[in-house]
Amino acid sequence: MKSLVHLLKFAVGLDSADSQVTDRELQLLLQYSRDAETICEIGCFESRTSVVLAANTAGSVYSIDPFFRGRLGICYTEWVARLNRSRTGARNLVFIRGLSHEVGRTFDLPIDFLFIDADHSYEAMKADWKEWFPKVKRGGYVALHDSKPAVNSPHRLGSMQFYSEDIPKISGVTECDEVDSLVILQRR
Ligand SMILES: C[S@@+](CC[C@H](N)C(=O)[O-])C[C@H]1O[C@@H](n2cnc3c(N)ncnc32)[C@H](O)[C@@H]1O
Repeated sequence: MKSLVHLLKFAVGLDSADSQVTDRELQLLLQYSRDAETICEIGCFESRTSVVLAANTAGSVYSIDPFFRGRLGICYTEWVARLNRSRTGARNLVFIRGLSHEVGRTFDLPIDFLFIDADHSYEAMKADWKEWFPKVKRGGYVALHDSKPAVNSPHRLGSMQFYSEDIPKISGVTECDEVDSLVILQRR
């Protein structure tokens, strides 16, 4: 019911698309993705970040989300995401419905900028990294949301465990920036 009310309010301009990405995080995402030809966002939600990424680049943004349907078979989040995209006229933003590991099996474009912000459990983060990191070009960037405790991400999440325990052991990446819960890594 809450989601339906939000969709209706969004449709008439009384609500905006939701996101946990802070303004400072968004600025960092824009800084590192500006020159990207291919951007992938794992976890679209209401497309609040996706449309801004799309407006900031001459390349293409692929945003992946299963858009889980509720009891009535409707995903209100997807409706907000689609409406948001059409309002902003982002023609270079493509939604891909599916779980990241399923989409990853067939997605074969080399990626300049990868933003992982989907299932934050430790196992899912590991799986997303395994599936998607090899597609990132050398010199390309990976942004990991909810990697550090911050005001917008106060609880200990599996994504934080993955960042603190696994990332230091992975060769071929250098951390180049961070703000709030977000870190930016570069593939060497
Ligand atoms: C925190 S939200 C993403 C927020 C969005 N990136 C933003 O900047 O506003 C997480 C999203 O990940 C999606 N999700 C959950 N599991 C997923 C999976 N296995 N593959 C892709 N997306 C998934 C959820 O449906 C949800 O919309």
